[in-house]
Amino acid sequence: MARVQLEDVSKVYPGDVQAVAPMDLDIAHGEFTVLVGPSGCGKSTTLRMVAGLEEATTGTIRIGDRVVNDVEPRDRNIAMVFQSYALYPHMTVEANLAFGLKMRKLSRDEITSRVGDAARVLGIDDLLHRKPAALSGGQRQRVALGRAIVRDPEVFLFDEPLSNLDAKMRVQMRTEIARLHHRLGATMIYVTHDQTEAMTLGQRIVVMKDGLVQQVAPPMELYDHPANRFVAGFIGSPAMNFLGGRIIREEGLRFALDGEDKPIPLPEGFAPAASLLDTPVIMGIRPEHVDVVEGGRATGVHAPVQVLENLGNETLIYFQLGGGQFTVRGSGQLSAGIDQDLQLAFRPDHIHLFEDGEKGDALPSS
Ligand SMILES: Nc1ncnc2c1ncn2[C@@H]1O[C@H](COP(=O)(O)OP(=O)(O)OP(=O)(O)O)[C@@H](O)[C@H]1O
Ligand SMILES: [Mg+2]
Repeated sequence: MARVQLEDVSKVYPGDVQAVAPMDLDIAHGEFTVLVGPSGCGKSTTLRMVAGLEEATTGTIRIGDRVVNDVEPRDRNIAMVFQSYALYPHMTVEANLAFGLKMRKLSRDEITSRVGDAARVLGIDDLLHRKPAALSGGQRQRVALGRAIVRDPEVFLFDEPLSNLDAKMRVQMRTEIARLHHRLGATMIYVTHDQTEAMTLGQRIVVMKDGLVQQVAPPMELYDHPANRFVAGFIGSPAMNFLGGRIIREEGLRFALDGEDKPIPLPEGFAPAASLLDTPVIMGIRPEHVDVVEGGRATGVHAPVQVLENLGNETLIYFQLGGGQFTVRGSGQLSAGIDQDLQLAFRPDHIHLFEDGEKGDALPSS
């Protein structure tokens, strides 16, 4: 186990493709860090630089106390698990698990003991004599994980290891990886484009976009205090709603929604720079922070229902508001007619405000 440090690390591929802009990242010994972001944002490239499968264009990579930029992948003491399991099809599970250890000339006893331990941890001891073709996807991925575990690496690197599995198996393997981390206490870096996986697995999450790190924070901090509009929209499902408008002063500070005559109260204690008053800003609010007000007085924003999705434990209602779709998530089973005009109450303490424009940095809330 070891600390992993990236200092000013970047990657430019031939043809001047900047896959990763210079980034700093300090991953503590035993920490579970997730790199998340949309396709092409540079997650795999970052991971592959740590693994030594890609050379960093600039910067220093340290694993433990050692600068590893010029160290061969096999000497970095890491183990990597990919989306494709890449098991040897003609070998049994046991032989697949033992293969790397044999290559490293470990003693027979040591190999038997490590393979046995890993198989027990992963609950595949009764599959040791099968070949990969006779395994389910989830079982194959467990074997691939086992191959990483037997190596007893300082750092585990995962690149979308669950994306070949069906939804149910993904959830199951996700919890197994979490347990594995708890049990081994190993440093783990995990790449995914799935924000749910990131939120549930990561102790810290690195959100990337276009090769640029957007925010590095623990899951709940990302959810509660996203640094910009991109992070706000990426983390959380269904995604945060965004509405254009202006901050005005009218019985305290309010948000005047474009095209609406009822301004929305802003959190108490919110004190924007004077320069922000009356200039265009973007308000963000999560679907779970808006309440549908039954037969309320005509004091709030109202909008017509477009679609209603009852999921049993919760209901998603899609409205047309502010020139776009607006989602509200209610707990339990709700009913409403299509086109019915409903009143919406925004919980003031959950309102986020962002600068207008491409970058959309969050406005400081006090
Ligand atoms: N070998 C390569 N040569 C040139 N460009 C590359 C190479 N590998 C990746 N890229 C480019 O670098 C950028 C980042 O790629 P990367 O594979 O790191 O993205 P990613 O975040 O892992 O995406 P995904 O979720 O699709 O796996 C992309 O624009 C990609 O096209
Ligand atoms: Mg990738």
